[in-house]
Amino acid sequence: MTAETELRLGVNIDHVATVRNARGGNYPDPLRAAKLAEEAGADGITAHLREDRRHISDADIEGLMDSLGVPLNFEMAATAEMQQIALRHRPHAVCIVPEKREERTTEGGLEVAREENRLAHFIAPLRDAGCRVSIFIAADNRQVEAAHRIGAQVIELHTGAYCDAHAEGREEDRDRELACLREMSAYAHSLGLEVHAGHGLTYDTVTPVAAFPELRELNIGHFIIGEAIFRGLVPAIAEMRRLMDAARGPRQRSAV
Ligand code: PXP
Repeated sequence: MTAETELRLGVNIDHVATVRNARGGNYPDPLRAAKLAEEAGADGITAHLREDRRHISDADIEGLMDSLGVPLNFEMAATAEMQQIALRHRPHAVCIVPEKREERTTEGGLEVAREENRLAHFIAPLRDAGCRVSIFIAADNRQVEAAHRIGAQVIELHTGAYCDAHAEGREEDRDRELACLREMSAYAHSLGLEVHAGHGLTYDTVTPVAAFPELRELNIGHFIIGEAIFRGLVPAIAEMRRLMDAARGPRQRSAV
């Protein structure tokens, strides 16, 4: 597979930190998980430094920046504090996500269209510092176009609605969400944006998304870390990787 057609797997290690923080000590260490994920074939590590520091800490980001051999995708809200942290570390990529204190996880995509001006100014210094800027959005053409206009290089499509519909057995909704994701993946690519996707993906839901020919990266966390309890982190990642590769298939690999 060439760089233009490969599908990278970013492993999100936030929930290793969630388990650590449940006891307040240093175990299990997210950095150790990140290195193991790297050995298991992860192409990158994703970590979300939330405003309330509920899982990943500032020290985790520092440790990841110091010792990771693969790129770090730093997820952050569009706040001045996070911008400063990102500019200090200059990770390979930053993914701008919406953040609400009361939510359990990142529930929706960023409303780029509503905040276009502010976000354009917000991401400019990050781009200038050499970070690839990704915007986490719903599969909606207004958001794709706004992300393109503000100068983002990458969009990450929120797959949560598709995964929820699958988990709840709402087949029509699932198929509609998937069609929407597929259409927006092609549309964003046609505008010159690199397309990523993630949120809520599992072994059951990854295949049709991984088959989008324009897709370059999936970021997957909660399911992989959960599955690691049952089969270990390395086999859990290896199985996700296998499903992603199988979804591309020989025809897809040469399609773009
Ligand atoms: N991508 C983004 C932008 C996210 O915010 C998250 C969740 O932190 C993920 C991917 C991974 O989602 P999950 O943990 O449900 O696999």
